[in-house]
Amino acid sequence: MSGPRQLHLAAFLQGVNHTTVWADPAAGSQVAFSSFEHMARTAERGTFDFFFLAEGLRLREQKGLIHDLDVVGRPESIAVLSALAAVTERLGLAATVNTTFNEPYELARRFATLDLLSGGRAGWNIVTSSDAFTGENFRRGGYLAHDERYTRAAEFAELAKELWGSWGEGAVLGDRASGAFLREEAVREVVHTGPQFDVRARATLPPSPQGRPVIIQAGDSEEGRTFAASTADVIFSRHSTREAGQAFVADIRGRAVSSGRRGDDVKVLPAVSWVLGDTAAEAAERAQHIRFQQVTPANAIAFAEQVWNRDLSDLDPDGPLPDVEPVEGELLSQGRAASRRIDRAAVSAQWRELSRSRGLTLRETAAEMSSHQSFVGTPEAVAEEMISFLDADACDGFVLTPHINPGGLDDFVDRVVPLLRERGRFRSEYTSTTLRGHLGLDGRPL
Ligand SMILES: Cc1cc2nc3c(=O)[nH]c(=O)nc-3n(C[C@H](O)[C@H](O)[C@H](O)COP(=O)(O)O)c2cc1C
Repeated sequence: MSGPRQLHLAAFLQGVNHTTVWADPAAGSQVAFSSFEHMARTAERGTFDFFFLAEGLRLREQKGLIHDLDVVGRPESIAVLSALAAVTERLGLAATVNTTFNEPYELARRFATLDLLSGGRAGWNIVTSSDAFTGENFRRGGYLAHDERYTRAAEFAELAKELWGSWGEGAVLGDRASGAFLREEAVREVVHTGPQFDVRARATLPPSPQGRPVIIQAGDSEEGRTFAASTADVIFSRHSTREAGQAFVADIRGRAVSSGRRGDDVKVLPAVSWVLGDTAAEAAERAQHIRFQQVTPANAIAFAEQVWNRDLSDLDPDGPLPDVEPVEGELLSQGRAASRRIDRAAVSAQWRELSRSRGLTLRETAAEMSSHQSFVGTPEAVAEEMISFLDADACDGFVLTPHINPGGLDDFVDRVVPLLRERGRFRSEYTSTTLRGHLGLDGRPL
């Protein structure tokens, strides 16, 4: 396509997450189909590339108690997306599903089904799920060390791709008239022997109009980046500032080229949030209000406990930071994100420096540290800033993570998308029927 580069946009309904606001009267159900439908329809009205769901397989716990937010529920994503396929026409539909606790044949078949049902709109966000706590839900427990999870993920994805690509030309419906058995090569048998999987199988489904589901990857370690650069079509990244984004994009493009691909075969989409106002001051005020909705007094203590890894329930959230040092050892916090490996000494020092230099209370510091709002301003300012990220090679677009469900995407689609379109930086209508087509990846090697 000629003209300036265009953004790719996705909508992320993140479910149980520390940035999701529940107390607001506008917050709706996290499990009702109408919530998913509202956000997906809004994303399609905005001609987004895709709608995206996270995976959380175990309720988070802190000091042995379940996080209050987690009891709102989190349905299984492929089932939700299958239902959304019936009420949307062009929007891509992507689910996060881990490769650690699933089997390739079964999962490849489920995604192939979603891909066919949706007419070529399915995407699979591959995660390896980092914590043994989640592993306890499964027969093998928290098995596999971190680097082995990527060995498994790579073999898993390779096998899934083989299965999706095994439906030969001879198996198309034209042969039906003869009423005969199909030739052996019509559906090629996939024989795979590797350290993780020993499989002899034939796929049960033909390819969709996009050939195979789009592969997305989220995970940031050395092994994660290498895997993504060689295998993924899209990376869902947490590098949402300009400088971090530029460094990440350059790193990924280099790795892609090293693995024999073109640099832009992989689209990098960081997770971002936004707050709009009629003036810059109004937007800043709203942003502050939202940060305090996200970081309630109880949440402020919970965040500090995650960093210090010790009981801080005696502290006043409106008072100073803990005057003790963080401790290592058994984690106080269990479950996705909460238990991420962090450098406690470095992060607590950052908290202290921020609190000291700006005179912030514990709650104010927790709000600053845990609730990064990427774009705050008027719709015009937000649109310009987003375009400038694209032009600076800090990303190929964004995964928008609303802080409220189901209406959190509405203002962006109503007020920012029209400006991106006017400036020629985002599509005004879909020009493809498939997710691969929306991403500009048609014709690239599958
Ligand atoms: C932006 C982003 C979103 C993620 N979303 C999920 C998720 O929804 N479910 C999940 O289990 N893991 C999620 N992860 C983490 C993955 O499980 C990842 O595979 C894990 O952190 C281990 O990989 P790493 O060490 O390479 O980061 C996400 C990671 C990133 C960067």
